[in-house]
Amino acid sequence: MFSENAARVAVFISGSGSNLQALIDGTKAGILSAKIVLVVSSRRDAYGLERAAKENIDTFVFKAKKYATPEEAGEALLDKLAEHKVEYIALAGYLKLLPAELVKTYRNRIVNIHPALLPKYGGKGMYGHFVHEAVIANGDKESGVSVHLVDEIYDHGKVLEQVRVPVMPDDSPDDLAARVLKQEHKLYARVLEKLIKGKYHITNE
Ligand code: GRF
Repeated sequence: MFSENAARVAVFISGSGSNLQALIDGTKAGILSAKIVLVVSSRRDAYGLERAAKENIDTFVFKAKKYATPEEAGEALLDKLAEHKVEYIALAGYLKLLPAELVKTYRNRIVNIHPALLPKYGGKGMYGHFVHEAVIANGDKESGVSVHLVDEIYDHGKVLEQVRVPVMPDDSPDDLAARVLKQEHKLYARVLEKLIKGKYHITNE
C-alpha cells in the first residue's frame, strides 16, 4: 500500500485520536502519501493508542516528568523518533509543550491542528471545550479550524490553512465542537500532504 519512499510520520496525541484516525484513513485513501510509523501519547489511557494498536502502529507513552531533566526527556523522545526514522510530526490533540530540542530538530516539519481561527483563541489553556466556550461567550458569528507549523510557543507558528464554520445562535460548545471537528477530519491529511510535497512557501523568520 505504501511506496518505499513515503514520508515517515509520527502523530502525537493525548486523547481520543479522531484526527489520528483521519490521518490513518487519509493514507489508506491515497490523500496522504505518508506512512504513520509511530504514535506518541502523553497519556497511557488515551483512546488513540487503541486506534494505533488496531493498525499495528508502534506507540510510545512519553511522560517528560519521568526523566531527571527536560533535556534528558527531550533526548529520549528524539531517540525514539530517530529509531523510527520519523521525518514529520503531526500533533493531533497533544496537550503538552514539545521539548525545545525536538522543535529545533524538526523545525518546519511539525504541524498542529487547532479548533479555532488562530491567532484568535490560541495559547496555553486554550484547548478543547475552553476554545468553543470562549467563542460562544464572545458572540462570534464564525469559528473554524487552523493547521499551523509548530514553534516554541503554543499555537503560534505560521498558519498553513484555515476552514471557517458558522456559529449558530443556539449552539452549545458541544454543537460547535462537533461542527469544527468534522472539518478538522477533512482538512488535516490534505495539509500534511501539501507540506510533505513542499507546496507551502516557508521562510525561516
Ligand atoms: C481537536 O479538536 C484538535 O483540534 C485539538 O484537540 C482535539 C483533538 O481531538 N488540538 P482528537 O483527539 O483528534 O479526537
